[in-house]
Amino acid sequence: MKILMTGSSGLVGSALIPVLREAGHEVTKLVRSAPKSADEVQWDPQIGIRELTRLEGMDAVIHLAGENIAAGRWNADQKARIRESRVRGTQTLCHALTQLALPPKVLLSASALGFYGDRGEEVLSEESAAGRGFLSEVCVAWEAATQPAEKSGLRVVLLRIGIVLSPTGGPLAKMALPFKLGLGGVIGSGQQYMSWIALDDLIGAITHALTTEAVRGPLNCVAPHPVTNREFTKTLGGALRRPTIFPVPAFVLRLMLGEMADELLLSGARLEPKRLLETQFQFRYPRLDEALGAVLGKR
Ligand SMILES: NC(=O)c1ccc[n+]([C@@H]2O[C@H](COP(=O)([O-])OP(=O)(O)OC[C@H]3O[C@@H](n4cnc5c(N)ncnc54)[C@H](OP(=O)(O)O)[C@@H]3O)[C@@H](O)[C@H]2O)c1
Repeated sequence: MKILMTGSSGLVGSALIPVLREAGHEVTKLVRSAPKSADEVQWDPQIGIRELTRLEGMDAVIHLAGENIAAGRWNADQKARIRESRVRGTQTLCHALTQLALPPKVLLSASALGFYGDRGEEVLSEESAAGRGFLSEVCVAWEAATQPAEKSGLRVVLLRIGIVLSPTGGPLAKMALPFKLGLGGVIGSGQQYMSWIALDDLIGAITHALTTEAVRGPLNCVAPHPVTNREFTKTLGGALRRPTIFPVPAFVLRLMLGEMADELLLSGARLEPKRLLETQFQFRYPRLDEALGAVLGKR
C-alpha cells in the first residue's frame, strides 16, 4: 500500500513506520517542517498542504498529529493548541483528501480514551456515549472533523487510543521515573481505571484496522484487561522491583498540574476493546504484568 502519515515523528508514528516499511508498504510523511527527504511532503495543519498532487493515488492515510497533551500546563493558550492542532488539523487534512482525483480508500484517524471522560467502573465499548470535560470535548470535535472524508466514501476508523506503554517515552516514561527513585505510589484514591495498551499491540491494532474492511468507525485501542491505578502501581513497582509506599494525594497533583491533574491522572475510564476482539485481533500482551515485563525489558 501507499500510505500517507501525519504526526510521523511522534511516539506512535516513529515506531509504526519501520513496521509498515518492513511489511512492504510505501510511507510518505506529511510534516510541518521543511521536507528533508523525498518521502516528506510539507503541510501546515492550520492552513493546508503544500504540494497537494503528491497525495494523489495514496491507498491509506494514518493521521496521528496533535499537540502533546502533557507538554505543558493547561492554560488557555495550551488548551487552544491541544484542540486546534487536532480539530483544525483534521479539517485541513480531510478537506485536502476530498479534493483529490484519486483519493485514498481508508483514513485511520487518532482519537483517545479521553472521549469517554471520567466514568468510574462502567465498562465502555465503542457504543458508549462521550463523557464530559475538556478532553472529551476535544475528542468529540476531533472525531467529527473526519466526517467530510467519510461522506466522500472513505472507510474512516477512529482510533480511540488508551495509555500507550512504550520503553522510549510517553506516559509510562513519566510515570516510571518516581518509581525508579523509590518514590512511586498510588495516585489520588487509586480507584480510577487505567485503560492501557502496549505499543507493539497498538501498532498491531493499527495495521489490523488498515487491512480489515469490517473495521470502521470508533475502535477502542486498549488491552482487554484494564486495571485500577492501585493495581497499576503495584504491578509497575513489582516490574521495577521498587516499593510503592508514597501515595500522591489529589490536592498535591492539583497544585502542581492544575486542571490537567483531574483529567489525566485522577479520572479513569474502563474501556473494552470490543471491536478489536470481534474482528479477531490477537493481543500479544493482554495482561499488564506481561506488557510491563516486555516493555521494561525484564523478561
Ligand atoms: N501516546 C499515548 O499514550 C496516546 C494516548 C491516547 C491518544 N494518543 C494520540 O495518538 C496520537 C499519536 O500519539 P503520540 O504519542 O505518537 O503523540 P506524540 O508523540 O505527541 O506525537 C504527535 C506528533 O504530532 C505532531 N505535532 C506535534 N505538535 C503538533 C501541533 N501543534 N500541530 C500539529 N501536529 C503536531 C508531531 O509530528 P510532526 O512533527 O511530524 O508533525 C508529533 O510528533 C496523538 O494524536 C495522541 O493524542 C496518544
